[in-house]
Amino acid sequence: MIRVKVPATVANLGPGFDCLGMALEFYNAVEMYEIPSGLYIEVQGEGTELIPKNEQNIVYQAARRVFQKVGYTPAGLKIKLTNNVPVGKGLGSSASAIVGGIIAANVMSGKQLKEKDLLSLAAEIEGHPDNVAPALLGGIIVSVSLEGDIKYIKITPPSQLKCVVAVPDFCLSTKTSREALPQQVSFNDAVFNIGRVALLVASLQQGELGLLSVAMDDRMHQSYRSGLIPGMKKVMAAAKLAGARGVTLSGAGPTLIAFADNNMELISKVMKDTFRQNGIMAKVYILNPSPVGSMTLCCT
Ligand code: HSE
Repeated sequence: MIRVKVPATVANLGPGFDCLGMALEFYNAVEMYEIPSGLYIEVQGEGTELIPKNEQNIVYQAARRVFQKVGYTPAGLKIKLTNNVPVGKGLGSSASAIVGGIIAANVMSGKQLKEKDLLSLAAEIEGHPDNVAPALLGGIIVSVSLEGDIKYIKITPPSQLKCVVAVPDFCLSTKTSREALPQQVSFNDAVFNIGRVALLVASLQQGELGLLSVAMDDRMHQSYRSGLIPGMKKVMAAAKLAGARGVTLSGAGPTLIAFADNNMELISKVMKDTFRQNGIMAKVYILNPSPVGSMTLCCT
């Protein structure tokens, strides 16, 4: 049996659309067993009703890509998923499924793929590297794709950085959220984002949170998506008033994340209350960034 623990992730961090992401201390676990025949998939926790338990399952599909690549044919497979990360909320649940599946399959088939191959394969399956890279490697990852090869730098999250995560009670698919985006943005908006993302990376690298409010601003995707998330702008403003250093949509949403080093309880309360005033019930978590990525916990 192989057991892999994979962190949730927050992608974009505001202006870093499709190229910035951070792992959170909030985990899913994937267990994979080779059995004499068949495919059995069991899901516990988040997404029990939503996640397919047949060949459509993302963990299985990701594992199958590894098996095809390395020429390994398991007789049969049992996959057990224990999920803490909410599904369809912008916290990297599909990235965690992909990464969990490919790591477990790689261990099962004799570790023929190296970390960089796993990262390229995960990014190819997901379509962009910003969630899968921190899910695999942990920390804050700046990543780009060069002809399918993922080039990245890992930043250790500042030790004082905490995340207040407000998860609304509705799902938003990445596909729907990406369809809200324009085909083109103006030169001014591109320049706006380039400056912010550079400032954000420098701030995180130096552990300097003072400019996050400016550095996490964005004109590439958040305002286009705000119509899909009732109260989004008000929740963000309320979190800032309560002392958040910066606030962002988590990935494609609908979860919102406030970065803070103080006042986390107050920020949690105002985010939850403001969502409720806009007709949305939300669960709130205070989480640490995860400096480490996926872990293979046991192999028998
Ligand atoms: N960068 C992606 C997006 C993350 O914002 O659409 C979600 O997969």
